[in-house]
Amino acid sequence: MKVLVIGGGAREHAICDAIYRSKTTELYAFMKNLNPGIAHLAKQYQLGQETDIAKVVQYAKSHKIDLALIGPEAPLEQGLTDVLQKQNINVCSPSQKAAQIETNKAWMRNLLQQYKIPGQLKYHVFSTTDDAEPFIEQLDGNIAIKPLGLTGGKGVRVAGDHFNGTAEAMEYIQQVITTKIGGAAQVVIEEKAIGEEFTLQAFSDGCTILTLPAVQDHKRLLPGDKGPNTGGMGSYSCADGLLPFLSKKEYDQGAYILSEIITSLRKEGYPYIGPIYGQFMVTKNGIKIIEINARFGDPEAMNVLPLLQTDYVELCQAIINQELSDFHIHMDEQATVCKYVVPEGYGYQSVINQPIHVNEQAIQNCGARLFYASVNQKDNMIYTSSSRSLAVVGIADDIPQAEHIAEEALSYIKSDHIFIRHDIGKKHLINQRIKHMDMLRAIT
Ligand code: AMP
Ligand code: GLY
Repeated sequence: MKVLVIGGGAREHAICDAIYRSKTTELYAFMKNLNPGIAHLAKQYQLGQETDIAKVVQYAKSHKIDLALIGPEAPLEQGLTDVLQKQNINVCSPSQKAAQIETNKAWMRNLLQQYKIPGQLKYHVFSTTDDAEPFIEQLDGNIAIKPLGLTGGKGVRVAGDHFNGTAEAMEYIQQVITTKIGGAAQVVIEEKAIGEEFTLQAFSDGCTILTLPAVQDHKRLLPGDKGPNTGGMGSYSCADGLLPFLSKKEYDQGAYILSEIITSLRKEGYPYIGPIYGQFMVTKNGIKIIEINARFGDPEAMNVLPLLQTDYVELCQAIINQELSDFHIHMDEQATVCKYVVPEGYGYQSVINQPIHVNEQAIQNCGARLFYASVNQKDNMIYTSSSRSLAVVGIADDIPQAEHIAEEALSYIKSDHIFIRHDIGKKHLINQRIKHMDMLRAIT
């Protein structure tokens, strides 16, 4: 079986690693940067823009690919799934229409509304600034402002975190509408949810979903969850699949919301195939939907895919054949801590083209997993680009041990121009999150 993975980040390295473990597979890769981890696993790879649909399809056809998996959201938005399927290639990723659940935030909120799916936030879509002001006042200024389309995680601004007061809100709304941030002259304004965020990833065959362990991603750049939002600085998951602030009932509520979304998409005529990622907030009033993504999370894929004992290619086939209702996913019941290494200046202005020395053997010896991200390999050396560089994942019976393994692995990565949030997975940070949630639950 010839499998093609599209994308060159650490999430895609984790996907390739899971595919590679399926012994009957030949792995092919299409990526925009030369990810050394993917290049090592793949029988062959092609460098190119992942949104260059014609080039990806040509590559898939010329290598007689049987199955394709699309890692990032941008090619999903461009309809890569649909075009590959027209060439009779199986694709374990959503169609362009189904991926609107991520690629159009207004469409997503309207779908939740139409099908009365729980966890919805108050929201409104605006095309002019003037109309927005009364709605902001109605919500006492506690809002999140979102461009409709994809912005690479950089477009959302939340009251209190990124702006203060109506005037600053209006300024950003004006900017989104006039400069069409995210591709449309429209903006979604929604109620700000207060609580603790978690990620729930699942596989969908269009009817049935099978959920994976919950993960908490730390999006803020600086220790203590401070500073600007990033693509994610690291993440952790627990051996029981829950999180220290998340009950089984709340996990089940997240799973129920995801399955309701899958049902509504099917009713709309857009059956959802592949991984789906719910970004939820536990609030004192229950679980709220922050976003739904049409792919795995990055870093969250690195928390769950290494635990997968089930043959990933067999799982993809069960998804495509709509057989998930009879399928069981076997996962190692272990805790994971993932920490990203990012270039110095990441979040503001990354210092690029700087060498990073990675002692792969020592990292392997300490039992950690290593996933390369947006680095480039030249003459056996690895260089930073403007995005996240690589990640290490510690896996153990509990979080403190997993965190310890991740830190040991990081000691074998050397560069004068990298930055790491060492607090991720540490007891004091997790206790801070538990305390925050306890405090919110205590308010009546
Ligand atoms: P996104 O790029 O949509 O994933 O959003 C980035 C971050 O903004 C999320 O991880 C949340 O922390 C925050 N955010 C987005 N929407 C809301 C909301 N309605 N209420 C509170 N925080 C939000
Ligand atoms: N963990 C953030 C994302 O994948 O969008």
